[in-house]
Amino acid sequence: MRLDKFLGTAFTRSEARKLIKSGAVTVNGVTAVKADFKVDENSDTVICGGEQIVYREFIYLVMNKPAGFVSAVWDKKQRCVTELLRDEHRRFEPFPVGRLDIDTEGLLILTNDGALTHELISPKKNVVKKYFAVTDLPMEDADAELFASGMDLGDFTALPAKLEFTENKNEIYISVSEGKFHQVKRMCEKCGKKVTYLKRVSIGGLHLDSALKCGEYAELTKENLTSQIYSV
Ligand code: URA
Repeated sequence: MRLDKFLGTAFTRSEARKLIKSGAVTVNGVTAVKADFKVDENSDTVICGGEQIVYREFIYLVMNKPAGFVSAVWDKKQRCVTELLRDEHRRFEPFPVGRLDIDTEGLLILTNDGALTHELISPKKNVVKKYFAVTDLPMEDADAELFASGMDLGDFTALPAKLEFTENKNEIYISVSEGKFHQVKRMCEKCGKKVTYLKRVSIGGLHLDSALKCGEYAELTKENLTSQIYSV
């Protein structure tokens, strides 16, 4: 790959080009002054300013999404979750895995790994997403039965879902294995209740870290991320 692309792991493309031009970069001990110099990311040693640069193609981030941000990389009107990322992560061009509504908070994965994204959002993989919801009216036992039976929502029939009660019947946990548009809100609406607050608390065995404040995020390795998700 081109040397400037390789350095994209650590710098913006324009920073990388400037560094290369200035003679600050060596490949296998030899100064490389051309941005299109070809490097092998697996075997070449690239040093910049005395530090070895290790190439990585993908990043994996877990965010505690705040309300008020859309799960997108670009939007005409609204702020996007990617605006919450620092440059060092944004330069990898990560995108959200699945979608949380603008007013939904909680666990959101962002990555630039398309294959993993595809895997995680595929209903075939049956990755369960768990939400904490507050409703305007108390949910009832009959609602839990309706959830479990696979609810007909008109344009699709939801896979069986789980409704768990807390001490307060307006505050419930709902686990679904699909990610259809407004799914949880629509399921509650079908039971005659309106969701007034929604937060995703887990994706498979990956739980929202209570140390992550709203709007904060952490970087994980792919192995760490997937082993947690599939640890159920
Ligand atoms: N279901 C919803 O209704 N909204 C979300 O943001 C996620 C799941």
